[in-house]
Amino acid sequence: MKREVLPEREIPPMGLLPVTARWSDGRLSIAGHDLGALAREWGTPLYVYDGETVRQELAALRQALAAAYPGLTEITYAAKAYFAPRFASKLAALGLGVDVVSLGELHVAQRAGFAPEKLHLHGNNKSAAELRAALELNLQAIVVDSLDELMFLESLARGAHVGAPVRRAPRIWLRITPGLTVDTHAYRQTGHHATKFGIPIAGGQAAEAIRYAQNSPYLNLVGLHTHLGSQIHEVGPYVEAIQMLYALARAENFTPEELSPGGGWHVRYTEDAPDTQLETWVQSVAAAVQAECQRDGNPLPRLILEPGRWLAARAGVALYTVGTCKTSGDGTRWVAVDGGMADNLRPALYSARYTAIVPERMEDVPTERVNLVGKFCESGDFLIENTLLPPVARGDLLALPVSGAYQLSMASNYNLAERPTVLWLKEDEIEVLQPREDILSAAWWNSE
Ligand code: LLP
Repeated sequence: MKREVLPEREIPPMGLLPVTARWSDGRLSIAGHDLGALAREWGTPLYVYDGETVRQELAALRQALAAAYPGLTEITYAAKAYFAPRFASKLAALGLGVDVVSLGELHVAQRAGFAPEKLHLHGNNKSAAELRAALELNLQAIVVDSLDELMFLESLARGAHVGAPVRRAPRIWLRITPGLTVDTHAYRQTGHHATKFGIPIAGGQAAEAIRYAQNSPYLNLVGLHTHLGSQIHEVGPYVEAIQMLYALARAENFTPEELSPGGGWHVRYTEDAPDTQLETWVQSVAAAVQAECQRDGNPLPRLILEPGRWLAARAGVALYTVGTCKTSGDGTRWVAVDGGMADNLRPALYSARYTAIVPERMEDVPTERVNLVGKFCESGDFLIENTLLPPVARGDLLALPVSGAYQLSMASNYNLAERPTVLWLKEDEIEVLQPREDILSAAWWNSE
């Protein structure tokens, strides 16, 4: 077993945990609920969301936006981060808009109580059914992703006009690709020249799309959009992208009523991650838009931000139980838990880093260098490769903070794992957001 004594890290990493996290006598609680007791009652893997953290992250964003931008604004949550129906209802009650990318997300949003004028439909390959639904509902915006889709949507809209002359042309945005590369994992970059997303400025397609949409009686072009990627910690590319959107619009005599630089602002998963503040992002984006409008003498557009991770990530904590602990032939120490890549694909897909804590022995110092892995039949099934943990043994509980975004929404049934129970925690209140999946009662089992 490799043992090293390393410098103590701050214990516990409170900045990564939900805002209601407290610890006493070595035990961690969230919204007043002891995590060890929750794990025993509900079983692991278990995910918990802290309602207060979602509320405070949204309040911080709203406040930053109101302080930085004098025009109209809107915050639309990127549903892909996590959108279980009961979670969606919580967000609808907070007055958010939502950006959806599939019929599934669209239907959940509707049922959860989001009005059509709060919905944006995104996606690089929307189906006819998705576009028809968006046309029928008259969504706040359909975000057109290509020239091909622009023609397709127009043909559907023209069809929708037949026999229904009162139907208004759909409000559309164009998703523009500026050709900018941001500092994040390659699989999360979406604004560079070689991406499948959006309409490139390079080569004139974006200009052509603006002209086409402006001239079509069946389309109502109201806005421009770009989304550069996800887990971005620098503001420069956002500012540059906004300048490029305006240069494009100016050249085509188009004044956007609405403008969105997307989402993508980063969240810290480890204490050594960059910590550029949310306010810096919001102020930079707001200032860039205002500068462009001042230059043209145009009124300010409605500014729409599309955070996913920012609203969901820190609220969520994953809880696992330690099983096998062993040492491999080369001396590497392995700690395996009862979840892994089926509920959290992010380490395998993006080499994402996390911080693990022992919620029932918070004072214990991380002294053991281990690979924290899951139980799935893949060598890439890491939760944290090469990390420091306090000594743990079978039966101990481990918590992974910052587990609220892109984990459950990307979860699978690999090895026929059941998707975990998800709880919504408030003081004196526990609500089940998702019951543990039951493979034996899954729909495909009773197919005759
Ligand atoms: N707007 C659009 C058009 C998007 O495609 C996305 C995310 C967002 C907004 C929200 O981005 P956020 O604020 O959450 O970074 N699975 C990856 C992240 C994929 C992001 C996909 N698009 C991960 O786990 O890191």
